[in-house]
Amino acid sequence: MDKKKIAIVFGTRPEAIKMAPVILELNKQSKEYTTLVIVSAQHREMLDQVLDVFSIRPDFDMDIMKKNQTLSDITSDILKGIESIFLDEKPDMVLVHGDTTTSFAAALAAYYHQIPIGHVEAGLRTYDKYFPFPEEANRQLIDTLTDLFFVPTEMTKANLLNEGKDEHKISVTGNTVIDAIHYTKESNTRHSSLDLMNDSPDQKWILLTMHRRENHGQPMQHVFEAINAITEKHKNVSVLMPVHLSPIVQAMANELLGDRDRIHLVEPLEVDVFHQVISKAYMVLTDSGGLQEEAPALDVPVLVLRDKTERPEGLEAGTLKVIGTEKDNVIYAVNELLVDTELYLKMSKAVNPYGDGLASSRIIKEITKYFEE
Ligand code: UD1
Ligand code: UDP
Repeated sequence: MDKKKIAIVFGTRPEAIKMAPVILELNKQSKEYTTLVIVSAQHREMLDQVLDVFSIRPDFDMDIMKKNQTLSDITSDILKGIESIFLDEKPDMVLVHGDTTTSFAAALAAYYHQIPIGHVEAGLRTYDKYFPFPEEANRQLIDTLTDLFFVPTEMTKANLLNEGKDEHKISVTGNTVIDAIHYTKESNTRHSSLDLMNDSPDQKWILLTMHRRENHGQPMQHVFEAINAITEKHKNVSVLMPVHLSPIVQAMANELLGDRDRIHLVEPLEVDVFHQVISKAYMVLTDSGGLQEEAPALDVPVLVLRDKTERPEGLEAGTLKVIGTEKDNVIYAVNELLVDTELYLKMSKAVNPYGDGLASSRIIKEITKYFEE
């Protein structure tokens, strides 16, 4: 095989965390591959935090982030900006991840230039185009354009087969987030949030994150009201919330959760610190996608603040519960986990369904096979 140039395009925090292990693995094979890292910077600070932890220096940085950016802003800025990079660099393959608008726009641009597309974390589905919005449509659209599907589990492979995708193009690799956890567990970075948790070992810590577009407004308000009710009732419960930098989330978190006893709002944490925080938490309360995969690997139960999940593996394994965003339902589910020790042990001991930390090397083997065929 001639040496191939692989462009890896991403723009947000979760994509960066899950693509970093693939980049590090590709870099190890520098005789076979040139790695071209292109970031849209759909996120700025939250992306840079991840690049620092993994010591990744992008070859191209499109720096598109704007305050209150719309989906159309992101899509059009990337489509326009990436064209000249693809024309100048002529990559042999473009790798995109998951379901963000960066991934969709980059896949569309690659398609326009007839560059083969590899989709990492392909095949996740809720089959409801507004939940999560716009991620469900993004991933279906990307999979329409994809040449190589890297799926995390057999369940995600089944989704693609049911849609009539060619089995030959699908490989079950595990999720690269487990590879990322193997990397971050070597870190012993100290942080004031870790000190806070260590200094009150008698407290049961709830790790809270929330940011999804479909939860902006009332759903988020109801969850935050529930959090206040829970901490008022249980004096042995503390909450740590690293607040997403979205102005909408910042405003609501500060208004409803700011200056409350035992509720700590902090800046987004570096991922190596964040993984340590998950391990110390009693439970995770979140609408995040990635956290539904990480927490099972770190033996921490997750209550999912959504009506549906595209990650049924965690439900089947027993580590997740989908509880929605109604105030009373959130209070009930959290109370249950606080008082029912048997349920708690069952959830925290459930087996991680997302792989063994070798997903990135499997992905690269499949890419090599593709070029050798
Ligand atoms: C995006 C993804 C979502 C993913 C999430 C991860 C899309 C449509 N959505 O949503 O799938 O779950 O990232 O966090 O691709 N901001 C900053 N600094 C940062 C990051 C964000 O200031 O480092 C602020 C900006 O004002 C920005 C806003 O957050 O306009 C929202 O960011 P955006 O990427 O549009 O949406 P997310 O909700 O982060
Ligand atoms: N994360 C982080 N610092 C934080 C909060 C989250 O590094 O303060 C990481 C977390 O470990 C996970 C990813 O960010 O890997 C999840 O990102 P997010 O919830 O923003 O997006 P989603 O996974 O929902 O797309």
